Amino acid sequence: MAEQSIVKYTPPPDKSITHRAFMFASLARGTSYIKNPLMAEDTLSTLAFAEKIGANVEIISDEIVKIEGTGGAPRTPEDFIDCRNSGTTARIGIGLASWINGEVFLTGDSSLRKRPMDRVLKPLSKRGLKFLARKGKYLPVALKGGKVKPGKNKLNIASAQVKSALIFASLCSGGKSIIEEPFLSRDHTEKFVEFLLGKNRIKRVIKEGSHVIKLSLPSGKNLWEGFEIKVPGDPSSAAFFVFASLFGNKKLIIENLLLNPTRTRYLTILTEMGADINIAQRDSTSIEETGTIEVTPAKNTTGKYSGIRGKIIKGKDIPSLIDELPLFGAFGFLFENGIEIRDAGELRIKESDRIRAIVENLKRLNVKVEEFEDGFKVYQTPEDKIKKNVTLDGFMDHRIVMAFSALAKALNLNVKFENAEISHKGIKKNIVAISYPSFFQDIKKL
Ligand code: S3P
Repeated sequence: MAEQSIVKYTPPPDKSITHRAFMFASLARGTSYIKNPLMAEDTLSTLAFAEKIGANVEIISDEIVKIEGTGGAPRTPEDFIDCRNSGTTARIGIGLASWINGEVFLTGDSSLRKRPMDRVLKPLSKRGLKFLARKGKYLPVALKGGKVKPGKNKLNIASAQVKSALIFASLCSGGKSIIEEPFLSRDHTEKFVEFLLGKNRIKRVIKEGSHVIKLSLPSGKNLWEGFEIKVPGDPSSAAFFVFASLFGNKKLIIENLLLNPTRTRYLTILTEMGADINIAQRDSTSIEETGTIEVTPAKNTTGKYSGIRGKIIKGKDIPSLIDELPLFGAFGFLFENGIEIRDAGELRIKESDRIRAIVENLKRLNVKVEEFEDGFKVYQTPEDKIKKNVTLDGFMDHRIVMAFSALAKALNLNVKFENAEISHKGIKKNIVAISYPSFFQDIKKL
């Protein structure tokens, strides 16, 4: 048997952690150094937000951003803050606005203006934030912070953006606050609070599936010192390479990968389904665990995929792999028995309606697929039935373009995209620049 070639790959820095690092640094007392930050369109939106509320930002190099914090006294921005395409900037930013003793006006691009903000505005208004939103729930929104109170919020969706907004507000109010989400979602904000304020300030319990966060803080504004953090590699960006390697023919070694279990559920699910994925090394010395993983292609010697059995993915697994679901959709027809995704209605309100986007593109590729309100079912389809030259719809959504580009790479398809270009200040870019500017250069190496 011919020796399998091996590709070593370091994913781009984690988007969620970079957003949070910029936000925590913008409120800190003193200087923070964010090493290996993600410098992509979305995180640049958060950096611009930090500047508008008075943080002093210096991009020392691609590898280091220095932020002089506002010492818990962010200024009232003089103009609208444009969060552009970034849901995380807008939603967590609404929570951060609790700290501002004045009016804050937020808006976003045409995709973000369609995404609901009431999921964060309503629970925050229970805690004292005043707001006015277009049609009661969309950007632009006008906010007035300054008077948030501690309190209890029981959320009916597991959303890291919503709970993070509430955590930021709670840090401003001080006192005892309780935030409950129906399932555990990504917990980077909680880890930052532990790291910056100490483990005794935040207690977390998983109770009959739900995740309860208890914050016990001195009353009034709570502050932290400037900090240093090195951002690990983004598992959601690495996921495109994991899938392309599994169904391609090169073994992949991924280094410096974030191993937070609220982000790597896709790896354990793929392993449970029969994929050969190993954690070769772990490092727990930083605030988030990182490591090296090895992915071995599923193709056997005769060129057929072996032993990856599809299943139904639903319930509490969904929040821990929400951003990887486009990949399960795009590659689903290669699994034995296909794949079914349920309880994932949240996909309809991401950067695009991702259920629609996945279903439409699979149809264009000649894959049989069923659409449900809360998910989809992809039927197993032989590779030779798939269209080799096809134009897909990017739906102006970075993860849709990358998921189907990873599929095209693995199966050697000639795919073009419509609706995949953004323009900012006259500069046109492919939509992948939202989270992964070097995606197309990197995937060539696979
Ligand atoms: C994110 C949370 C997720 C995810 C998004 C980033 C975050 O959204 O889809 O890409 O950084 O908190 P929800 O929390 O709304 O599910």
